[in-house]
Amino acid sequence: MLLFNYILLISLFITLCIVGIYSDIPCAARQITGQSVVCVCNATYCDQTTRTTPNVGAYVAYTSSEAGARFKKTTGLLEISNNLLNHNESQRITTLAVNPQKLFQTIEGFGGAVTDSAAINWSNFTDIRLKEDIIKSYFSSTGIEYNMVRVPIGGSDFSTRPYAYNEVPEYDVNLTNFNLTREDYDYKIPMLKAIKKDSPIPVHVIGTTWSPPGWMKSNHALVGASHLLPQYYQTYADYHLKFVQKYKEVNINIWGITTTNEPINGDFGTVRFNSLGWTAKNMGRWIADFLGPTIRNSEFNKLKILAVDDQRITLPYFFGLMIKERPTALQYIDGIAVHYYFDAVSPPELLTLISKYYPDKFIISTEACVGSNPWESQKVILGSWQRAYTYIHDIFQDLNYNLVGWLDWNLCLNKEGGPNWAGNMVDSPIIVDAENGEFLKQPTYYAMGHFSKFVPRGSRRVEVTQSKPFYYRSLLHVAFLTPYKTVVVIIYNKDSSTRPVKVKVGNYQEVSLILDAKSITTIELRS
Ligand SMILES: *[C@@H]1O[C@H](CO)[C@@H](O)[C@H](O)[C@H]1NC(C)=O
Ligand SMILES: *[C@@H]1O[C@H](CO)[C@@H](O)[C@H](O)[C@H]1NC(C)=O
Ligand SMILES: *[C@@H]1O[C@H](CO)[C@@H](O)[C@H](O)[C@H]1NC(C)=O
Ligand SMILES: *[C@@H]1O[C@H](CO)[C@@H](O)[C@H](O)[C@H]1NC(C)=O
Ligand SMILES: *[C@@H]1O[C@H](CO)[C@@H](O)[C@H](O)[C@H]1NC(C)=O
Ligand SMILES: *[C@@H]1O[C@H](CO)[C@@H](O)[C@H](O)[C@H]1NC(C)=O
Repeated sequence: MLLFNYILLISLFITLCIVGIYSDIPCAARQITGQSVVCVCNATYCDQTTRTTPNVGAYVAYTSSEAGARFKKTTGLLEISNNLLNHNESQRITTLAVNPQKLFQTIEGFGGAVTDSAAINWSNFTDIRLKEDIIKSYFSSTGIEYNMVRVPIGGSDFSTRPYAYNEVPEYDVNLTNFNLTREDYDYKIPMLKAIKKDSPIPVHVIGTTWSPPGWMKSNHALVGASHLLPQYYQTYADYHLKFVQKYKEVNINIWGITTTNEPINGDFGTVRFNSLGWTAKNMGRWIADFLGPTIRNSEFNKLKILAVDDQRITLPYFFGLMIKERPTALQYIDGIAVHYYFDAVSPPELLTLISKYYPDKFIISTEACVGSNPWESQKVILGSWQRAYTYIHDIFQDLNYNLVGWLDWNLCLNKEGGPNWAGNMVDSPIIVDAENGEFLKQPTYYAMGHFSKFVPRGSRRVEVTQSKPFYYRSLLHVAFLTPYKTVVVIIYNKDSSTRPVKVKVGNYQEVSLILDAKSITTIELRS
């Protein structure tokens, strides 16, 4: 046994030397007073991390922490599990038992949004290397391997002006003047093409409309309480199809569309930017009688249709009413999109209701950001670990409630958290500073990466059972079986001190680790 372990250790070491450690570049950390660190990238330097494939009987662990670790890599061998912890140990050690036989949802992916603002700020770097490094940081195998993108259909608040396609001529029921804008041609499409070039696997792009042109709406404006005029139900369906066609013409394939961003805001006029209101009943009618048939009878009949695209708290009510009004809408709907805002006050059991009543519909989180609350006067907080934790907490919760993916909002923003024509600035995992020729990777970037990089599309969530000494706080955890036949376990330690943990896989193998204080660790192992 000992000799066998020895050989494993040597081969592990050799493998790491060849494929792993030497291509990793550490974070150029900048300590932010009172916060954690940001990692600084400039034209000649940007941190990168490769995923090291563990050999049979070995594990690779990656840790990021409030103290400043960023994907700190450690490796080791699996141990034969000792089920008989002595009393002292059982007082201290939390055990996570992974059962790879008990399978849950299949993962679709992780990503962020190519808004006008993200693409404008990205384009604004005159040095091509900086542009390249932002894309690589998110999408390549040396970055956090995003595989999904959301793109606004026309403008959103994260644009430098309010607009929609085909604003003129008005009342143009056949959309004879539907054309993309300079935001598409000069910013979003080049960014999407750069993403496509650097991504090792197909990136799934989801399109979403914030508001169609004012003439289709009851208030004849992009902003404010509104609904779609009934005579334009078919036109609004065609509006989506035309967008998909136009993007196809420039070689960007759209994978899915949502059925309008945050329809309930638009119904009550609660936001001061582009929106379109929908009651659940009307939405049911529109999908069943217009959007669904239009898409399914087109050359894009495989396009995923994602309903709701609003806060989790609205979910069972809105979706249930929609389906009650038009049960036939169900045949067109592939999945349900949720946004994470207000998750703190919406029980995740709402997601279980959907999984229970509509087991063939997947659920995916399509938008999240920090700094959006009106009471948060500082929109961008550099180095905030608390904000990374906000993401981490929500991603753990969603994944453990069967969501198939989690998309962040703007891929990058400027130091003010914009531009945003409506003054609705927020934070982003990458903050660009074109004046100083650098961009900053926030703790939220690494928070996303602990999931996105190590849980590839096609992974299945598996069961984990936590047994903990009663006076300790719970660890947050989730585990997956990946298409590489490895097991990935992600753990968050909320404590302000280190914490020992044993991860058992199956009946007889385990990894023992000491988790850093306030840290997230991703462990990939092959048993
Ligand atoms: C770029 O970053 C590296 C690493 O932090 C640093 O050594 C170098 O001086 C920076 N270059 C410029 C031009 O600031
Ligand atoms: C119990 O564990 C603590 C912490 O590791 C150690 O210092 C102590 O010596 C152990 N006591 C016994 C009886 O093993
Ligand atoms: C981001 O884009 C806005 C809008 O064009 C511009 O005002 C701002 O200077 C840009 N910021 C950077 C850092 O490039
Ligand atoms: C819209 O297109 C249809 C089908 O081609 C046509 O019958 C109709 O007259 C057009 N409507 C207008 C207002 O041009
Ligand atoms: C669409 O817009 C682009 C960019 O503004 C322009 O080059 C092109 O000519 C327009 N096409 C039509 C049909 O108007
Ligand atoms: C790019 O950034 C500069 C400031 O560095 C700003 O003046 C300019 O407006 C920006 N351009 C765009 C297109 O965002």
